Amino acid sequence: MTNDELMHEAEQAREMAYAPYSGFTVGAALLTKDGTVYRGCNIENAAFGPSNCAERTAFFKAVSEGKRDFVKIAITGGKQGTSATDTCSPCGVCRQVMMEFCDPQEFVILLRDGQGGVMEKTLSQLLPLGFGAGNLQ
Ligand code: THU
Repeated sequence: MTNDELMHEAEQAREMAYAPYSGFTVGAALLTKDGTVYRGCNIENAAFGPSNCAERTAFFKAVSEGKRDFVKIAITGGKQGTSATDTCSPCGVCRQVMMEFCDPQEFVILLRDGQGGVMEKTLSQLLPLGFGAGNLQ
């Protein structure tokens, strides 16, 4: 699966976003090592706190289906009704969830580059010196 194909999956996931409070819709597409793609969107709540980001939706769908080996995730987001070409970078909580299941040197995060393309970052670039399961051993 190419980076562009995975970003296209994220765009389609974004169409399912439920974001009546922020008006900011996000889609994510998570590729597992066995080649499956899990899509996620943000899901907001009137009580605000229970809202969930697109990235965590994708991770939790995958993990709840028994998948724990991941290659990369594509993320796209922006104001509802716009084509979302600006970079939408994952929040700190989502980075920490990625840290739980992914090798930070290997796992790739695909973001829009603001110029019509897709940029690649590793988790270690977005979460340097991350705290993970290894720290508790
Ligand atoms: N959001 C995501 O789903 N992922 C991100 O990477 C950034 C923020 C959501 C949370 C909330 O529903 C809306 O975008 C505005 O913060």
